[in-house]
Amino acid sequence: MTGMICGTGSYVPDNILDNHDIAKLVETSDEWIRERTGVVKRHIIGNETTVSMAAEAGKRALEDAKVDAKDVDMILVSTISSDVILPCAACKVQKILGAERAVCFDLNAACSGFIFAYNTALAYLASGMCRTILVIGSESLSNLINWKDRGTCILFGDGAGAAVVKACEGKNYQIAAHSDGAKGEALTCPGGHVKGWQQMPEEDRYMKMDGRGVFQFAVKRVPEAIREVLEINRLKIADIDYFILHQANRRIVEAVAKRLGVEIEKFPMNLQEYGNTSSASIPILLDELRRSRVLQPGHRIVLAGFGAGLSWGADIIDWKI
Ligand code: COA
Repeated sequence: MTGMICGTGSYVPDNILDNHDIAKLVETSDEWIRERTGVVKRHIIGNETTVSMAAEAGKRALEDAKVDAKDVDMILVSTISSDVILPCAACKVQKILGAERAVCFDLNAACSGFIFAYNTALAYLASGMCRTILVIGSESLSNLINWKDRGTCILFGDGAGAAVVKACEGKNYQIAAHSDGAKGEALTCPGGHVKGWQQMPEEDRYMKMDGRGVFQFAVKRVPEAIREVLEINRLKIADIDYFILHQANRRIVEAVAKRLGVEIEKFPMNLQEYGNTSSASIPILLDELRRSRVLQPGHRIVLAGFGAGLSWGADIIDWKI
């Protein structure tokens, strides 16, 4: 038994902040941001919240899959930016969707979050404990950003993506998933949860990043994980139609493609429109590729995520819808 994605959905706020808007907040320019990151604009929450975006993306994925919310066994929300610590976002989504039977919990693996949540769903489906799981990545990163730090505020955006994963007979691919907590200081965000946060200087509460360190980590570890997942499943690079990477930075995606020796056309991107939406980036891109019919039944794709933790991983999916 394995899992199959049978519907996708996404939601992004209407409110847009382009590079020129950012240049009014910090010393930077549209040209610098485009050249170093590929990001042109990002969508930022207005009245939305992480939960409301998660619920809307989840609802759209259920509609796409033609699955009734009452038939969902589990809701998994991957997020680092939930509205509150308790209750978890997944339980709030359950209430909005009316998915009464579902067991619900959140998962925090930062920008690898959607992949790790999808892997968790696969394990429940393969064991026979669940038949239908709604996996969602949703982020309001604008709440975690220090809008005075030009090293981070240029990169991130808000949004949500979701996939309905159902149990099915089929090939059970091995996964590649890794963490290195010893390098965790490269990307941190204490938020308002740590002891003594009230006394912390304001800038210390928000996201902090060693940009170069994270860049080097990503361009080394992501190709490694993709090679690993292909090898353990006895596949070759040529067997893959599309490589769907976490949308952090155009230069990272280009460097990964180059290291793998694969043409860049096989690495779809939408980071120019949304920036880095952490655990929402892969499911938003999947949803766009499905709706624009770039993804077709019979395609074999690789998903690869990387980010804070540090954590990273890659999956292989036979696309069937
Ligand atoms: N606008 C203009 N100048 C900027 C700037 C900005 N937004 N941010 C940094 N600079 C300046 C620096 O101060 C530095 O100036 P100096 O040479 O006078 O000291 C120069 O640009 C180069 O800085 P550096 O940090 O080396 O730039 P970079 O090429 O590494 O680009 C990032 C910075 C953040 C874009 C890049 O490191 C990156 O994308 N890293 C990965 C981050 C990421 O994806 N994180 C999430 C992973 S899930």
